[in-house]
Amino acid sequence: MDRIFIHGGRPLRGTVKIGGSKNSALPILAATLLTRGKCTISRVPDLSDIHYMLTILSTLGCEVERASGIVRVCAQKICTQALYDTVRKMRASICIIGPLLGREGEATVSLPGGCVIGDRPIDLHLRGFEKLGTAIRMQGGNIKALAPRLKGNTIFLRGKHGSTVLGTDNVMMAAALADGITVIEGAAEEPEVVDLASFLVKMGACIEGAGTSRIVIEGVKELYGAEHEIIPDRIEAGTFLVAAAICGEGVTVQHVAPQHLQSVTETLRKTGLRIEIGTNSITLHKRGKSQPLKVDAKPHPGFPTDMQAQMCALLSTTEGLSTVTDHIFPRRFMHLAELKRMGANIELEGATATIRGVPILGAAPVMASDLRASAALILAGLQAEGITEVHRVYHIDRGYERIDEKFNGLGAHIERVKTSSLR
Ligand code: EPU
Repeated sequence: MDRIFIHGGRPLRGTVKIGGSKNSALPILAATLLTRGKCTISRVPDLSDIHYMLTILSTLGCEVERASGIVRVCAQKICTQALYDTVRKMRASICIIGPLLGREGEATVSLPGGCVIGDRPIDLHLRGFEKLGTAIRMQGGNIKALAPRLKGNTIFLRGKHGSTVLGTDNVMMAAALADGITVIEGAAEEPEVVDLASFLVKMGACIEGAGTSRIVIEGVKELYGAEHEIIPDRIEAGTFLVAAAICGEGVTVQHVAPQHLQSVTETLRKTGLRIEIGTNSITLHKRGKSQPLKVDAKPHPGFPTDMQAQMCALLSTTEGLSTVTDHIFPRRFMHLAELKRMGANIELEGATATIRGVPILGAAPVMASDLRASAALILAGLQAEGITEVHRVYHIDRGYERIDEKFNGLGAHIERVKTSSLR
């Protein structure tokens, strides 16, 4: 297990290239199960979550080849069962159910376990499958879904915390091969849903309305192999932008889709930062003192919950009183205890963190609890006095490609050390 040591207090300058989106690539790779044809997916990031998904596809019988960001999958002959050992490492593995049901009319997939960012039910996914005519039962920790013939229907997919991203993906994939028309009301509007829909359309699916709250899918008899390039990772880009807001002296994120980052750039502008938006780049110029903020993490086009922890790191040293509320995952605040160990002044009540900015954070050994929490700790370490030691960095490798190298390319001093060499 690696640890990361961050030598704080160095300014960031220069340009960083952003990779393909993890949260787009995962369901798109799952969607390759929908066809016997060969699919070629490019700009696939080199992350452990992607590796888990490719292992799941291989276990299901797919031929998988991977070379420098390009993944080729051929799901000529597949089985429909993915048990605990195969899927337990990643919650997103539930998005294989939709394609398995669509193509084979059945799926047995282990129920995802608990999640550190809060309760993550899958009732909306299951409700969607049932509406399409699937019989669902739980047995031995597995979801057993059976639908000899899927039939289109109108399905409402919004829960008390908003729409479900992977639930929308799952139902859209199953409905692509159902009989008749499916209408998803209350659909998630995230760019990753739009990316999946555009891949499905290239495969021959008939889908309209992706990116709005109403998606209409007219089932087709068969889907075909297709080629697709994954959209840029807006959360990776946002994380570098927030780092630039913390200790940047002119940082450009390149190969991004600025329209996907509007809520992030608008929020950073409100702190008083100067931001230039290019066609596929965003530059953040550091300007004097920044202003406190009220941040509300909400479904797209709102401020992303996946950027909430990073904002807490920024606001920890922003003079004045800020609040950060997560309306999607109200318990996604594990990073606060670690930020407090570095000297941040934060109180949590319900789903709202109240942050009183302190002049500077101090380095400390800290523990990453989940992917975005670990990003927040790295951002805190970049500005802290001393050397911050981050444990359990495997969380960060799930969603950020070579983050230490990318930050070092901007002038940071981050070392990654194998635990065995620390003994
Ligand atoms: N929800 C339900 N029932 C369901 C599904 C979701 O009540 O059946 C609730 C959740 O508990 C949550 C809200 O609905 O309160 C939204 O959850 P959603 O289903 O949209 O989350 P997800 O699709 O499982 C994806 C991303 C997450 C990201 C969320 C929200 C992937 C692989 N994961 O998860 O990304 O936080 O959408 O935008 O796409 C991350 O990358 O760090 C990450 C956690």
